[in-house]
Amino acid sequence: MTTATLNAAQSGTFHLGGDLLVHRLGFGAMRITGNGVWGPPKDHAEAIDVLRRAVALGVNFIDTAESYGPHVSEELIAEALYPYPKGLVIATKGGLERTGPNQWPVNGRPERLREGLEGSLRRLRLDRIDLWQLHRIDPDVAEEDQFGAIREFQKEGKIKHAGLSEVTIEQIERAQKVFDIVSVQNRYNLADREWEPVLDYCGRENIGFIPWFPLQTGKLAGKGGPLSVIAARHNATPAQIALAWLLKRSKVMLPIPGTGRVNHLEENIGAASIELSDEEFDAISG
Ligand SMILES: NC(=O)c1ccc[n+]([C@@H]2O[C@H](COP(=O)([O-])OP(=O)(O)OC[C@H]3O[C@@H](n4cnc5c(N)ncnc54)[C@H](OP(=O)(O)O)[C@@H]3O)[C@@H](O)[C@H]2O)c1
Repeated sequence: MTTATLNAAQSGTFHLGGDLLVHRLGFGAMRITGNGVWGPPKDHAEAIDVLRRAVALGVNFIDTAESYGPHVSEELIAEALYPYPKGLVIATKGGLERTGPNQWPVNGRPERLREGLEGSLRRLRLDRIDLWQLHRIDPDVAEEDQFGAIREFQKEGKIKHAGLSEVTIEQIERAQKVFDIVSVQNRYNLADREWEPVLDYCGRENIGFIPWFPLQTGKLAGKGGPLSVIAARHNATPAQIALAWLLKRSKVMLPIPGTGRVNHLEENIGAASIELSDEEFDAISG
């Protein structure tokens, strides 16, 4: 595929919260930071290029978090893209502390969530976050306090829509009583389908499902395996087929593959135009 024909719009659209129209294939901005999602990226210029190229190629849904870096991912997004093009939806998250590379202690105390949100607004140079997600429900803080804080943020106009991450159906239903859930971000990919029931629930409720770690394919990508056979048939890579499979799996699926490299970004966006047949889909569905 030539880069002239690459466009995330080919992945189809979804209305987040009923009103924010996004192309289903988005971009995850966790990998534009340093090793262990800690500190600045090795190549600052390439990180900026990745973000600008993503938007140039039709990406209008970018996922980040205050904890990526921490702060680095949000700062780079503003540096690369502010003033933001019309229709760009930036989703961020709060609720995790950072104490070092690959360390992510949970902190859902309402005052900490508020401090995180204020920091995200400042770094992203926004008056309101389109989609703010609770990165994890803190088991040591009463759920109603965490959900109540999110409802307050919405009432104050600081966030438009809200979502949750790594949650069960029961947790979603309890949160729905306090505020509208427009997205759920759980780990999900071809090789890891633990959250299948949550995905089906989101499909029924028309809640955006944002699968993180979307590129993992496990043993399926092995030489001669069904994934590599299908990839060869489409003149594609296994990573592209993994994304095409996700897009076909559900109309509420919003994959956010992450990378710090322009060539990988272009490859991933190439998945938007790959249509798997029902037979191909079944062959790798397991
Ligand atoms: N809610 C949560 O708890 C949570 C947790 C983790 C992630 N997330 C979000 O989900 C997004 C995606 O998750 P993820 O970054 O963990 O997983 P991913 O997108 O499945 O994989 C990213 C990894 O794959 C590599 N990669 C990307 N494109 C590639 C390609 N075309 N060919 C070969 N390798 C490729 C990247 O390295 P290079 O940089 O070298 O390309 C990076 O190491 C994150 O950016 C973040 O926004 C959310």
